[in-house]
Amino acid sequence: MKFFVDTADLGAIEELLELGLVDGVTTNPSLVAKTGQDLFTVLRDICRLVEGPVSAEVLATDFADMLREGRRLAEIAPNIAVKVPLTPDGLKACRRLVAEGTAVNVTLCFSPAQALLAAKAGATFVSPFVGRLDDVGHEGMELIRDILTIFRNYPNAIRTQVLVASVRSVPHLVEAARLGADIVTAPPQVLRALVAHPLTERGLARFLEDARQSGIRIL
Ligand code: E4P
Repeated sequence: MKFFVDTADLGAIEELLELGLVDGVTTNPSLVAKTGQDLFTVLRDICRLVEGPVSAEVLATDFADMLREGRRLAEIAPNIAVKVPLTPDGLKACRRLVAEGTAVNVTLCFSPAQALLAAKAGATFVSPFVGRLDDVGHEGMELIRDILTIFRNYPNAIRTQVLVASVRSVPHLVEAARLGADIVTAPPQVLRALVAHPLTERGLARFLEDARQSGIRIL
């Protein structure tokens, strides 16, 4: 499973790159707004750092302007994946942009039916939002299970990768891997939390103390 980081924070991306946890990046208008910087500057800087796909979301809601915005975003770097919302206009824009050779991430997916439409539109990625479904009392991971089951029924026809989004916790990420999702995009704090385990810390402290007491040294 690939790990994308869901942030526009350059510092966090640099830190996680060193850990080998950045196969790609997803941004959205809210994440870019948090940086207080110009959208194009932020995206250019991220694309300079990261080799994998960097999702950049359109702001328009009608087909013609989504297409214009998508083309403008795609010019930033070859690894830009244009993010469009799962609406009729978004699906139309997806079809056109994919036909032009641009990678497209269809975002704000909340049902298996919507995911099927993204696949029919030739999306490179579809982003089902797990956490936001949990927030309204649904079982977000159930949606991932359904989409993967459906897509696996059509291995030759569907090439769209399932990009699990709105990930809020380590168990979300682990469950996505258990189900065999292609990609998870998680905020930096969730990726950082993956490494932590109290028994690792306790075990390390014991090893070091035993070595210190017996005078074992390497350097
Ligand atoms: C995905 O591409 C979105 O940017 C993101 O995962 C949304 O997550 P949130 O629901 O925690 O805002």
